Amino acid sequence: MSNEARGTWSGNLGLVLAATGSAIGLGNLWKFPYITWENNGGAFVLVYLGCIVLVGLPIMMAELLIGRRSQLSAVGALREAAGPAFRFVGLWGVLAGFILLSYYTVIAGWSLFYFWKALGWTVSGFDTAGSGLFGEQVANAPLQLILSLVFSAATIGVVYFGVSRGIERVAKVFLPVLFGILLLLLISALGMSGSGEALTHIFQPRFNELDGAGVLEALGHSFFTLSLGMGAMITYGSYIGRKQSIVKAGGAIVALDTIIALVATVIMFSVIFSVVGLRDEVGASAVGMLFISLPELFYTEVPFGTVLAPLFYVLVALAALTSTISLLEVVTAYLIDERKLSRHKAAVGSGVAIFVFTIFAALSFSPAGGFLASMNIWGEGKDGWFSTMDHFVSNWMLPTGGFAVAVAAGWIMTRKATFEQLVDGTEPRWFSFEAWRVCIRYIAPTAVLAIIIAVILGTDFS
Ligand code: PHE
Repeated sequence: MSNEARGTWSGNLGLVLAATGSAIGLGNLWKFPYITWENNGGAFVLVYLGCIVLVGLPIMMAELLIGRRSQLSAVGALREAAGPAFRFVGLWGVLAGFILLSYYTVIAGWSLFYFWKALGWTVSGFDTAGSGLFGEQVANAPLQLILSLVFSAATIGVVYFGVSRGIERVAKVFLPVLFGILLLLLISALGMSGSGEALTHIFQPRFNELDGAGVLEALGHSFFTLSLGMGAMITYGSYIGRKQSIVKAGGAIVALDTIIALVATVIMFSVIFSVVGLRDEVGASAVGMLFISLPELFYTEVPFGTVLAPLFYVLVALAALTSTISLLEVVTAYLIDERKLSRHKAAVGSGVAIFVFTIFAALSFSPAGGFLASMNIWGEGKDGWFSTMDHFVSNWMLPTGGFAVAVAAGWIMTRKATFEQLVDGTEPRWFSFEAWRVCIRYIAPTAVLAIIIAVILGTDFS
């Protein structure tokens, strides 16, 4: 029964699109641009790219291979790969997925709200100039609950239908649409007057502007954006057939995710640099860049903005949905494999349980949220429960989970076991098994540990 409940990808394209859909999400469109902004571009982007190539890519392959080898979800796959103790690493991942999904859904909900608004503006004209629309909508508790409920229901709906009939089908339609919309936006943004300055800001490193916390953030984000360190890629890997190439798939997923993050940042910064005075406004609320600065600009500055604005928020919603389904799938697959539930029960049960915590996150921005809105254990100011969860998952749970995966694949599994999964005669020329081994055994674990220790000790990297 379990095999039927589990499912498989119909082929290579299905896997690559579904996993790329997981990787491309709010991390690329919302988070990467704003943390790049907060960390002053240039040097941060370079460190981030370094983390992607030396840490993210090798761990991506490790997760896919661990999943495919056992054909089990995160907990079972890590146990088979590296022994009973690694069950706990799998459970750590399931927990990370649970928490991450609970707050991710809230931002995803904002994209629905703005899509709805943008449709209205496109039809009857933009009328909210200078108002505090964003602040009002996040502080509106019932609205936040409805938006996140709709998004959670959509996520559960897809996972309910399973791997090839649900997840893969959605990815096959959504991703091409997403690429198309982003290309239109890029063309439009590059035509704006600030695009040159935006490119310089993003690609010219100024190392004196980066500190230790920024380096940890780049590392943490490379895990977040590639959906690593919490079992999502192990789970997706478990649906890969024996004949598919993990190296090719992993390379494609990482490349697409990185390109989309950079394209989104170029688009947003081009707009920001094109408008006088906008820099200061963005500086004051980087989190809301996507929702505060952009809507008005679409209708006042961006060429063809009236058409592009609703399309843009559809894009954000689609990107978020292909990510939330992978998060729910981690928990669902665990319940199917380890707790022997049927897919339907597992998807609905875990989705509803997670939604209970989504309520906390949804109230983090509203006066009605009480302590949820004001708590702050990382001393970062801002948005209570929501930021606290995000900080914990992104900067601590995912890197430590990724570290454990690197240890499992590099030190505990035999060389032969990983070689068999990665090398099948079809690998592309850029791939070298020896280089992968060096990255997974030495570079990735050292980098993760070094950065975490340095940050605990309060280092300033600039
Ligand atoms: N990679 C997704 C993004 O960039 C977030 C995510 C993390 C999804 C972990 C699944 C697992 O938005």
